[in-house]
Amino acid sequence: MASQLIYDGSVARSSVTQQRITEVEEKLLQARDVVFEDVELFNSNGIVPEDKQPLDAGFIEFPSRLLKDIEAKTDGGLVGQIERVAAELRDNIDRLVVLGIGGSYMGMRALFEALCSPVHNELSRSQRGGVPRLYFEGNNVDNDSVQALLNLLETSCRDKSDVEQRWGISVISKSGGTLETAVAFRIFRKALEGYYGPDSSDSRRFVVPITGEIGKLRNLSNTTEYPEVFPIPDGIGGRFSVLTAVGLFPAAVLGIDIRQLLRGAADITESFRTQPPGTNPVLDYTATCHALEVDQGANIRVLTTWGKRLEAFGLWYDQLLSESLGKQGQGATPLTVVNTRDLHSRGQQHQQGKGDKLFTNIVVESPAYDVQTVPESNRDEDDLNQIAGKGLPEILAAATKGTNEAYHEDGRPTADIVIPQLDAYYLGQLLQMMMLTTVVEGRLININPYGQPGVEMYKTNMKRILGID
Ligand code: PA5
Repeated sequence: MASQLIYDGSVARSSVTQQRITEVEEKLLQARDVVFEDVELFNSNGIVPEDKQPLDAGFIEFPSRLLKDIEAKTDGGLVGQIERVAAELRDNIDRLVVLGIGGSYMGMRALFEALCSPVHNELSRSQRGGVPRLYFEGNNVDNDSVQALLNLLETSCRDKSDVEQRWGISVISKSGGTLETAVAFRIFRKALEGYYGPDSSDSRRFVVPITGEIGKLRNLSNTTEYPEVFPIPDGIGGRFSVLTAVGLFPAAVLGIDIRQLLRGAADITESFRTQPPGTNPVLDYTATCHALEVDQGANIRVLTTWGKRLEAFGLWYDQLLSESLGKQGQGATPLTVVNTRDLHSRGQQHQQGKGDKLFTNIVVESPAYDVQTVPESNRDEDDLNQIAGKGLPEILAAATKGTNEAYHEDGRPTADIVIPQLDAYYLGQLLQMMMLTTVVEGRLININPYGQPGVEMYKTNMKRILGID
């Protein structure tokens, strides 16, 4: 492994006894065994006992399986295919509209915000490295947001012979029946077919559906004869699907190194499988969270991203934890905060409100861009010459340290996840770590982390109210 992210829960753990942590760790080792028994059962295609249904353990070995296929198959397997189709689309369009919701949206948004320029869509095509702009829709039923994007596409795409005026769609839905996405697809497909011509090859080759093996979107894709349709495998649930074609395909279109994403995920999975507590970030994170929740009433897990680029990652984790463990009256409540921004809104409550929170900082040690420093000024009305020459990362680090100190004075537990830099490899580790921690905690507290019966209920009700079959 290149280098493993670091999880440090020592400060948070000082509020519980070492004996208690050891007890939790012992139970977690048993829960880890259950997670890998699940993987074996899943791989065997054996009968899944009722209390384990659904069993969507496919995500655990998926990254390493894809990496093996790259070596074993002459065409590079699914990764090779994704890279080829992504390159073709990337070279032919300048705007990609990604349609999807929940697990078919949040992960890709996390990848985009973490790994692409924060001003990606404002850059020229050459500044973007020849990759398209990206837009997300189908994640709501928001008339104005849809209409604004359609207006933008209409006014900026007038000459379809010019690559900079061509756009495409990737529609993502595992079930193929989620109304928000299906409605958006119909609307954007109409616009796309209106632009390229309903029977043109462009109106098919610039649409890439990503969906399950059966369902309405699969049927529609077959009937329309879209040349490339990527699968969402059975046994990988929506919120666990970011490292399938769901995230990998749009990421590859944007030029993100998807092999490194997979490598990071495979490496942290191996660490989870083999390492003892103390050098196993998945087990260590889960042990801290569980012990503080049970013993200290830390029911709210605040994931604090320092800087903006991991906000969508935090929102992705919000969904993962909420939908996976928020069942049978159980499950901690996740909350993403972006500091220092949210110190100016939530900070007061977090420091001195109810003591029901565990704060986990995500610390990125080095920025991706050149360091910006505070300039020296002849006029010093703002008194900032005393920190002239200091870089923004140093100022952010002071804010992090100062906040932790303040929280500790008020007895608020904090922990840290540290990565050297924000790149595809470490993001792959982070994503897989959070998925693994969620399932191992589920097995620890006897909650099936897979499936989302509550979400399905709202979908059914909404369709009934609209009179849809
Ligand atoms: O985690 C899940 O399974 C859900 O959040 C789904 O991803 C979400 O409801 C979208 O479903 P689908 O991909 O079937 O359109």
